[in-house]
Amino acid sequence: MGYYESADSGATLLPVSFTEWEERAKKKLASGPFGYIYGAAGAGDTMKANEEAFRQYRIRPRVCRDISKRDLEISLFGKKYPVPFLFAPIGVNSIVHSDAEVAPAKAATSLGIPYILSNVSSTPMEKIAEVMGDSPRWFQLYPPINQELTKSFLKRAENAGFSAIVVTIDSTLLGWRETDLRNAFLPFLTGQGMGNYFTDPVFLSMLDAPPEKNLEAACKKALDEGNNVGFSWKDLEFIKKETDLPVLLKGLTHPDDALLAVEHGADGIIVSNHGGRQLDGAIGTLEALPSVCEAVEHKVPVLMDSGIRRGADIIKALALGASGVLIGRPYIYGLAVAGETGVKAVAENFIAETELQMAICGRKSISEIDQSLVLKI
Ligand code: FNR
Repeated sequence: MGYYESADSGATLLPVSFTEWEERAKKKLASGPFGYIYGAAGAGDTMKANEEAFRQYRIRPRVCRDISKRDLEISLFGKKYPVPFLFAPIGVNSIVHSDAEVAPAKAATSLGIPYILSNVSSTPMEKIAEVMGDSPRWFQLYPPINQELTKSFLKRAENAGFSAIVVTIDSTLLGWRETDLRNAFLPFLTGQGMGNYFTDPVFLSMLDAPPEKNLEAACKKALDEGNNVGFSWKDLEFIKKETDLPVLLKGLTHPDDALLAVEHGADGIIVSNHGGRQLDGAIGTLEALPSVCEAVEHKVPVLMDSGIRRGADIIKALALGASGVLIGRPYIYGLAVAGETGVKAVAENFIAETELQMAICGRKSISEIDQSLVLKI
C-alpha cells in the first residue's frame, strides 16, 4: 500500500495521470512551446493511432502466483537497468524550462534510468556528462551530411561517456506540423537546441562567422548540415565503422526496414514514428511492433516508443516483444510543470504503476512477460 501512504494532497499536489500533466503544462507554457510539444503531423491521426493501438490489446492476468518479490530490471547490450523504460531523446528543452536537459539528466541519474540526449539539445553533451557522472546515457544523432561532423559528434559522445548511439532516421525532413506553422514557432531558428552544434569544432569551422556574430546563418547551417536527407543504408554502415558503441536505428515501423537495418549493422531497433510528429496517417507503433520483432528474430533488441502513457502500455509493449520502451511527452510535461522534480515524479509514477501492473497480472519479473499475457480484441 506504500504508494497510497506516501500520496500527498493539497494545493501543491503534483499531477498523477498523463492528462493532468498535459493540462498543467498547457497552463504553464506559452502557446508556441506548448504547441511544439503537444503537436503532431497533419491531422494528428498517427498520434491518435499510437494511443488507440494500446486499447486494441487487453491484458489477461494469471492469479495465485507468488508476487511478493518483484523486479523490473532489464538488460540491454550487456548492461542492467533498473526499469524497463528510458527517457526518449527530446530536443530544445530550453523552450520548456530554464534548466533545459539538465533537469531530466538529473532526474534520470537519481533513479538510474538511462537518458537519451538529443542531438538538438539546448545543453552540450559534455555538460550532461558532468551532471550525470557514471549514470547511463545514450546519445541520439540526427545524421549530418558532412562526414567529419558525424565523426566529431560520435567521438565527443564516446569521450563524454555515452554508451550507445541512437540514429534517428524518420526526421531528415520536418513533418507538416500545423500548430507550429500557425504559431510560426521553430525554436532552432533562434539558436535554441544548438548546444551540441555551437560547441563543435568541426561545425564552427564550417561557418563564415561565429554564431555570436551571425546567429541566423549559424542556425541555418546547423539545420541544413544536420539533416542528411540523402541518408541511406551505406550511411548507417559509415556510422557503424566510426564508432565502437552499439548503434540503434530509431524511427522505423516496417519489418523489411528492420531486417535491412540489421543487415547493415544496426545493433538495435527502436520502433517509432516520432510520437506521430512526422508522417500523418501512419500505423501506431504497437501495431508495428510484433511484425518487426518477428522479422529480426531476437538477433538484436527491439525497443519502441510513441503513445506510452502509463504502466499498462509498458506491459503491453513488453508482452508484444519489446526489450524496453521510451517515454517521450510525459516527462517533458513533467519538466514544464516542475522542472527536475516534475520529471522525477513522472518517472516514479511510471515505475510504481508498471510494478503494480506486472504483479497484479501475476508476473514477478520482466522476463515473465510474454505474448500469452495479451489478447488482441
Ligand atoms: C521529440 N522526439 C525526438 N526524437 C529524436 O530522436 N530526437 C529529438 O530531438 C526529438 N525531439 C522531440 C521533441 C519533442 C517536443 C517531442 C514530443 C518528441 C521524438 C521522441 O524521441 C519520441 O520518439 C516520441 O516523443 C515518443 O512519443 P510520445 O511518448 O511523445 O508519444
